[in-house]
Amino acid sequence: MANNKPLRRSRKQQSVDISEAQIAVHWREEGYFSPRAQFIAQANLTNKGVLKRFSLDKFPGYYEEFADLLDWYKRWKKTLDTSNPPFWRWFVGGEINACYNCVDRHLAKHKNKTAIHFVPETEHEAIQHVTYQELYVRVNEFAALLRDFCGLKAGDRVTLHMPMVAELPIAMLACARLGVIHSQVFSGFSGKACADRAVDSESRVLITMDAYYRAGSLLDHKEKADIAVAEAAKDGHKVDKVLIWQRYPGKYSSPTQLVAGRDFIVNDVLKQYRGKRLEPVRLPAEAPLFLMYTSGTTGRPKGCQHSIGGYLAYVTWTSKFIQDIHPEDVYWCMADIGWITGHSYIVYGPLALAASSVVYEGVPTHPDAGRPWRIAEDLDVNIFHTSPTAIRALRRAGPEEPAKYNHHFKHMTTVGEPIEPEVWKWYYKVVGKSKAVIVDTWWQTENGGFLCSTVPGIHKMKPGSAGPGIPGIHPVIYDDEGNELPAGSGKAGNICIRNPWPGGFQTIWKDPARFVTQYYSRYCKNPKSKNWRDWPYMAGDGAVQAADGYYRILGRIDDVINVAGHRLGTKEIESAALTVAEVAEAAVVPVADPIKGKVPDLYVSLKPGLQASKALADKVSGAVVFQIGPIARPRTVVIVPDMPKTRSGKIMRRVLAAISNHQDPGDVSTLANPEVVEKIKEAAK
Ligand code: PRX
Repeated sequence: MANNKPLRRSRKQQSVDISEAQIAVHWREEGYFSPRAQFIAQANLTNKGVLKRFSLDKFPGYYEEFADLLDWYKRWKKTLDTSNPPFWRWFVGGEINACYNCVDRHLAKHKNKTAIHFVPETEHEAIQHVTYQELYVRVNEFAALLRDFCGLKAGDRVTLHMPMVAELPIAMLACARLGVIHSQVFSGFSGKACADRAVDSESRVLITMDAYYRAGSLLDHKEKADIAVAEAAKDGHKVDKVLIWQRYPGKYSSPTQLVAGRDFIVNDVLKQYRGKRLEPVRLPAEAPLFLMYTSGTTGRPKGCQHSIGGYLAYVTWTSKFIQDIHPEDVYWCMADIGWITGHSYIVYGPLALAASSVVYEGVPTHPDAGRPWRIAEDLDVNIFHTSPTAIRALRRAGPEEPAKYNHHFKHMTTVGEPIEPEVWKWYYKVVGKSKAVIVDTWWQTENGGFLCSTVPGIHKMKPGSAGPGIPGIHPVIYDDEGNELPAGSGKAGNICIRNPWPGGFQTIWKDPARFVTQYYSRYCKNPKSKNWRDWPYMAGDGAVQAADGYYRILGRIDDVINVAGHRLGTKEIESAALTVAEVAEAAVVPVADPIKGKVPDLYVSLKPGLQASKALADKVSGAVVFQIGPIARPRTVVIVPDMPKTRSGKIMRRVLAAISNHQDPGDVSTLANPEVVEKIKEAAK
């Protein structure tokens, strides 16, 4: 197929000089792989009738099947209220509790079953198996602490800055039991990034941990809480209490002092709440469950607000039918719970189905590339879920390693970035031993759960393609003028979803206007319309649809870079660079990377009279790490004499991206300062 031409830019998009989709790799069309008969024989969904039942003319009624997987205190009156587009309201009138659905309702049949296998990074440390009964007890006690010690109630926000430990889902579920809105910040983010999120969500309580293992070292994590509280205070926001879990209960593992009256060791305070049981709070389906901050096109991350009823229904259905989770399965998603994948497909989806979900603390290649396969073998994991970056890293570090282990996956997922067909085939043949099905799931923080994927018991797989929309999701590709690009056209465009779905975020926290403009304005057919058909959701990804209806995602079309499956806003990194007093201008561009997919290169120019130096480049890099975290660290900081600019003074990132990607920068004669291009090339060497 598909000569994937770069996306043309419309007037509205002129600020975007370079995008991931424009530097997308051009893979050739691959042949199909079929799921094995043994997989189909046990799969939760094999009847093709589902595709008809979930056709657009039956929308929104078919989503009742999703909600019917949950236990409701009160059944909803209206499946979908569209009276205030695009603020869709799902399962209106229904009452529910997410914690009840993930914990209490399993006790009758599964109380003695492992809910969470916590695997410490240190290999000699024993794996902890938290049963559903134990989860119930621990969640209740911690919920009592949140309610009675912290005074938290439904609707309050709490920021969590926790590593990958069993206490993280425990804390999330305790919040959910009370209706407290949790906002978990990825533990690799800096204290400053944590502060920004605590300020925006107005969290008065911060929940953290003293320390955790990463690549063989016990990292001091508590120090980030001190930075977070101090940075929030600079923004006029007071965090009253910091709750600190201990990586080793009973022992404080951080060298950082406790602040009297503010910092509390959870295990000490919990003693008062031993044996406490709290009725789950009955909440409206549309009450928020959590906020998940993600990068966008401005300097500030935005808080995606997800609902209880719609979100939980969506992740439960997709976990059951796309992940093919049965209660007897051992399921391991290697993502971090600090990202949406972990929320939906480590915690809420699998636990709603009473599965056993693995929480692994550390890096996959520690102490060697055999680690994931040893864990899989020991726990008898049969469903495995990870990202192309992790697969590429494991393949590089130990291409023959998986064959040495006696693990057996029936199902594997890839998520977060486009996967090269070569990498897909290694995953299939070597990790899956040519037996496991693979689903390539395309979706975003905003979406709650999968948008495009094959249904593993129904569709064939095609390396490098996410597949069709999942049942109920009806994607469409528009060109810049709003024309639909038909399947097999060979043209790339902007992928959108025609219909609302229950997992979609409700709004951007405290910024509903941006929710509308960023996702719905571009292709809205009539802003006054109350008809959902006039409000396609624009994802911000470039895509092509092959003649068979499968979608291939090319990458972001906006100022967002997908680094190792993690979203970073170029504006966020540029703002961080501009906090360095010497920096006059900053521009970030995506660079193709063999392991991480894309990485950021940062170009800066200095204020007059200043000289470029290695020390200054390091200072800029350090500022990015302070403001955001090590994942945003630029591959290189290039100090340039001036930025390439148009006559109107706009920085031409396209030229910088071409230099970083060793491509031809094209015609630069229209620049105001074409002579600078050679000097930039020199500086970038
Ligand atoms: O560009 C797409 C890419 O990741 C972006 C969403 O990132 P985030 O909100 O952090 O969520 C990641 C996990 C759901 C998308 O806009 N992306 C996600 N999945 C895929 C993908 N690109 C290609 N193939 C995928 N399967």
